[in-house]
Amino acid sequence: MYDYREPWKEKIASVINALLLENGINESVKNEQITAENPPNPEMGDIGFPMFSFAKTLRKGPAQIAQIAAQRLSKSGNEKIEAQGPYLNIRLDRGQTSKMILNDVFAKNKNDGFIFGRPGTMTGKKVMVEFSSPNTNKPLHLGHLRNDVLGESISRIIEACGAKVRKVCIINDRGIHICKSMLAYKEHGQGKTPESEGKKSDRFVGDFYVLFNNDLKKEEELIKAKKENDTEENQAPSIKKAQGLLRKWEAGDSETVELWKKMNGWAIEGMKKTYERTGISFDKYDFESETYMLGREEVLKGLEKGIFFRQQDGSVAVDLSEEKLDKKILLRSDGTSIYITQDFGTAINRHKDWPFDKLIYVVGSEQQYHFKVLFILLEKLGYTWARDLHHLSYGMVNLPEGKMKSREGTVVDADDLIDSLRDMALEEIREKGREEDVGNPLLVAEKIALGALHYFLLQTSPLKDMLFDPKESLSFTGNTGPYLQYMGARISSMLRKAGKDADNKNFDADYSLLITDAEWSLVKTLAEYNQAVSEAAQNMDPSQIAGYLYELSKAFSRFYHECPILNCDDKELSRARLDLGRAVMYILKDAFHLACIPFLDVM
Ligand code: ARG
Repeated sequence: MYDYREPWKEKIASVINALLLENGINESVKNEQITAENPPNPEMGDIGFPMFSFAKTLRKGPAQIAQIAAQRLSKSGNEKIEAQGPYLNIRLDRGQTSKMILNDVFAKNKNDGFIFGRPGTMTGKKVMVEFSSPNTNKPLHLGHLRNDVLGESISRIIEACGAKVRKVCIINDRGIHICKSMLAYKEHGQGKTPESEGKKSDRFVGDFYVLFNNDLKKEEELIKAKKENDTEENQAPSIKKAQGLLRKWEAGDSETVELWKKMNGWAIEGMKKTYERTGISFDKYDFESETYMLGREEVLKGLEKGIFFRQQDGSVAVDLSEEKLDKKILLRSDGTSIYITQDFGTAINRHKDWPFDKLIYVVGSEQQYHFKVLFILLEKLGYTWARDLHHLSYGMVNLPEGKMKSREGTVVDADDLIDSLRDMALEEIREKGREEDVGNPLLVAEKIALGALHYFLLQTSPLKDMLFDPKESLSFTGNTGPYLQYMGARISSMLRKAGKDADNKNFDADYSLLITDAEWSLVKTLAEYNQAVSEAAQNMDPSQIAGYLYELSKAFSRFYHECPILNCDDKELSRARLDLGRAVMYILKDAFHLACIPFLDVM
């Protein structure tokens, strides 16, 4: 893809190299070592090259180097070269450059095989991305929605850079938390099913988890009240019963396993519906119930090798004081596995199955310690690929009302949240009287809801906590998903109106006519797409795509207001502008795909 900075990097490198040679310095610089920046204001030029880094070797001040380079660089057409302090600023020939950039966008599009925005920086790499990874005791909630869109988006971005990507999801389908819902079902279920209750099946399971916690709360209050005159009993009966159920499950007790299968089946079936609804998908599901045994074997191997040790109560632990971390339990005293146990098995299986160059775990920041320990221990166990494991940690999402909490049953279910966004969008479509124009209002409202949600969630860089404001996310003005979708619909409608002219996909208009400030800044923004994609992949940060989309929308809206397109008197210019609109649409669609935002032809 045409990068207007490249030829200049090359020219500057050769000027610097000539200077080095003249000064008898036996060193040279490569094109990649030349950094290009955007000057702080467009008056100063289109590209700024800082000269600081050559000062030491050349034994000259950066400003002096900039002066010399400005005199020696060759230019053509309307190009301007200027030394401003320590910077060398270049003003490009707008017409020439517009032509190159748009031809490049369209060249890749002639067969509708869109490869603009495909920087190829990760070609040949195999990257596994784990995300979502729910527990089967309750439905997906707002936190999962952030996780899901981060995982899906980062996968698409990395794939766009040429890597082979495998999306995986571990279902934590065993353990004490699952036994809690199972216990509540045993005690309150009375043979009910999701069908008999008319509930989505994951919700049905989650409601029993809530029941368990209600029971537990009551017991704990009783214990607290009794505590003054009693010393022996301080563990709630429900907890003991759940632990008993876990031991039965690990021993393969058939009645327990039967119930477990039934409830997990319900939970997973419901979650898959939510994934389908939000456009999230996986290449492979792992199940903790299938990997925890291997994990346990690994822990026992480590025990034999003396990497881990057995504590007095029978549990297996590791001392990480050398790593400046705490002691960590790896197997309980009753022999049952805990959360981290399975992760050994899961990681080993994954690498055996599909040897990756990198495995990214998209998991909340509260598990930073967990992953730190996991990676260290896998390395201690002799798995050299442990160095290729990466925790992509993300912060909490809260709603304006307050924190999401599952224990009190006040969790914000993913489905409920999307439903209410969709209903708000539908209301807006009705209020604007657009029901007939949009065709299927419910479907369009659902797509607007997803656009609003995903864009909002991706805008904040992953590590930061954030507040999800449903109203704000849906606003049709400002920096929102629906605003971007509206921009896409506006271009689509313009192309429809242009009719025959727009069907002409020869892309042979004279793009060198696109030289006004508004056109030029839009063209330059298009050319920055590749870099945005490769940087987002490198930093594993989809908020950079969101940021790019915002820049694109600002540049487009300026162009749209300042430059008549269909009713422009100059026919050739009108054609060039129409194609510029189309180029924006191609990039918009592509970036929407990377950010999991549905594209709409009408809104
Ligand atoms: N299911 C876990 C939870 O809800 C997250 C799993 C993260 N992935 C992993 N490989 N441990 O907290």
